[in-house]
Amino acid sequence: MAKKKGIDELLNGIEQRIEAESLAGVNELLSIGLEKEVIGLNGLTEKVASCVKCHLEAMRRNTVFGEGSETAELMFIGEAPGADEDEQGRPFVGRAGQLLTKIIGSIGLKREDVYIANILKCRPPGNRNPMPTEIATCSPYLVKQIQIIKPRVICALGKFSAQTLLNTDMPISKLRGKFYYYKGIKLMPTYHPAYLLRNSHGKKDVWEDMKMIAKELGLVVPDQKK
Ligand code: URA
Repeated sequence: MAKKKGIDELLNGIEQRIEAESLAGVNELLSIGLEKEVIGLNGLTEKVASCVKCHLEAMRRNTVFGEGSETAELMFIGEAPGADEDEQGRPFVGRAGQLLTKIIGSIGLKREDVYIANILKCRPPGNRNPMPTEIATCSPYLVKQIQIIKPRVICALGKFSAQTLLNTDMPISKLRGKFYYYKGIKLMPTYHPAYLLRNSHGKKDVWEDMKMIAKELGLVVPDQKK
C-alpha cells in the first residue's frame, strides 16, 4: 500500500512539473518571438487575428484585441470576451461593458481616452472561466500590448485579471483598494463590472478604487450629484 502511494505521489509530481514547464515554455517562446520583433498595435492586432495557439480559435467568431487611445494613461484589463464581444470583435460592449463605460465616465473620462483589453483575446465557450493553459498561451499578447501602450495606471477588472497580472491567488476582495506594481506600472485591482451587475453593494468599493486612480492621474473627478 505504502509503495503504491509513493508511486502515485511521484507520478503526480512528474505530471505537475511537466505541466508547469510546458506552460512556462509556451509563454517564454511566444514572448521572446514578440520581443525581438519591432511591432506596433496594428501588427499585434494582425497576429492575434490569425492566432491558432489554443483550441479557442476553433470556436470564435472574432478575436477581441482591445481598443482605445494608443497613448492612454489608463488601461482597463478584463477577463475575456463574452458573446457580444465575440460577435462584434470589440471589448466590453455588452451589459458589463455599458457599466464599464459609466465607471470610466465617473472619473470624467470617455472610452476613447483610455485603453480597454482583456487577458484572453477569444471567447471561452459558454463564458466559462479562462483555463490556466489559455491564460498562459494568450497573456504574452497582453504583455506586448501593455509594453506598446505604456499606461501610467492599469485597472485590473476582476479576479482573473488581477490574479494573472499580479501572479497571486489572493481573492479580489482582499486585493482591491490599493495600488500594486506590474512591471513598474501602478496597478489597481477592482471588482469586475459583471460582478457589480449581480452585486450592486460592490459599487461603492469600485467608486473608492476609481477615486484613487483619478488622484494618481491628477484628474478632477466630476461632482457626483450633478
Ligand atoms: N467581460 C470581460 O472581461 N471582457 C469583456 O470584453 C466583456 C466582458
